[in-house]
Amino acid sequence: MTTAPPLVVIPGRLVEEVLRDAHAEARQMVEDVYVQSFQERLVNPESLFLRPAPEARERVIALPAYVPEPTPAMGIKWIASFPENLSAGLPRASATIVLNDVATGFPVALLEGARISGFRTALSALVGANALGDGSRRAVKFAVLGTGYIADTTVRAFLEDGWQWDEGAVFDLSPDRAQDFVDRLGTNGADPRLGVATTAEEALAGADLVLLATTAVTPHIGDLSMLAPHATVLHMSLRDLTPAALAGADHVVDDVSHALRERTSLALAVEDGTVPRAEIHAVGELLVGGARRTPGRKAVYAPFGLGSLDIALGRLVLDRSRHLDGALTVEDFSGIAG
Ligand SMILES: NC(=O)c1ccc[n+]([C@@H]2O[C@H](COP(=O)([O-])OP(=O)(O)OC[C@H]3O[C@@H](n4cnc5c(N)ncnc54)[C@H](O)[C@@H]3O)[C@@H](O)[C@H]2O)c1
Repeated sequence: MTTAPPLVVIPGRLVEEVLRDAHAEARQMVEDVYVQSFQERLVNPESLFLRPAPEARERVIALPAYVPEPTPAMGIKWIASFPENLSAGLPRASATIVLNDVATGFPVALLEGARISGFRTALSALVGANALGDGSRRAVKFAVLGTGYIADTTVRAFLEDGWQWDEGAVFDLSPDRAQDFVDRLGTNGADPRLGVATTAEEALAGADLVLLATTAVTPHIGDLSMLAPHATVLHMSLRDLTPAALAGADHVVDDVSHALRERTSLALAVEDGTVPRAEIHAVGELLVGGARRTPGRKAVYAPFGLGSLDIALGRLVLDRSRHLDGALTVEDFSGIAG
């Protein structure tokens, strides 16, 4: 009998359940993917951006990848960003991840992808902060700009990893969203030491750890001199900082050629000569000890977001959830059994 592998559908609630217990393993997986990426051992083609019109803020991005280790996995994340969803009470991002069988190419899994994407982004920020940190997992002042889903997931990942800060200041263009963020993270008796700032400048003043997770499309921060001299800036939203703000800092990304696309702050700074391309390092290079940050200087970490993280993590979620309640198996999805 000729048959193809079954297709397993993993909905969001099940993905969430599995990710809740996967912090340590997933963080290690993100580090391993970054090392494999630096050593050019995985296949991570450029992502493809679909916009309904050239200047539209709405977009859907396709991120295919092949990851050989620890378990060979291949597939694609297809993720939509519709910023106006927030005003309708819906998340900005929604996604699916398709995994393909590495032996036959047949699709074997369809996973809800926004949670996996958010989790891997949070872990990417964490891995960057740890690689750029002194090992103490401590900050004097943690500033967060943009208090949406990514900021929420990232701050939770930092707390889970044992990070502590004396003071936390958050700012969002929507004061209500900033307040909700602080309230949410402070539930169940937790004290995440976060307060709402009334301006971005107030949040950033004196900060030695900064998370930028806004949806800005053009740079709006022209100077980082208000930060502590040795601050680490996790520039997850990629487009908040002007070339002048980036001047004189150490620069770390996930993949240099990926990070210099799509009018990111770093792409603009390389184009106008403010940041020499040769001075940008991959986080995998730091992880293998091939590069170090300059003591006393600011460091800006701006990972573009590699599809290989989604595919590796998607595979982990599939392996842990395929036999749990809520997973749906379609035995002959391709309709060729017989
Ligand atoms: N680098 C990566 O790997 C990666 C992966 C996923 C998402 N992202 C990026 O992370 C960012 C946040 O995503 P999200 O899902 O949390 O979005 P979201 O829409 O849930 O939240 C974004 C928040 O930023 C606020 N904001 C917008 N402009 C601001 C500004 N100038 N100052 C302060 N606040 C501002 C909005 O009011 C909103 O509350 C997006 O830019 C997204 O593209 C990056």
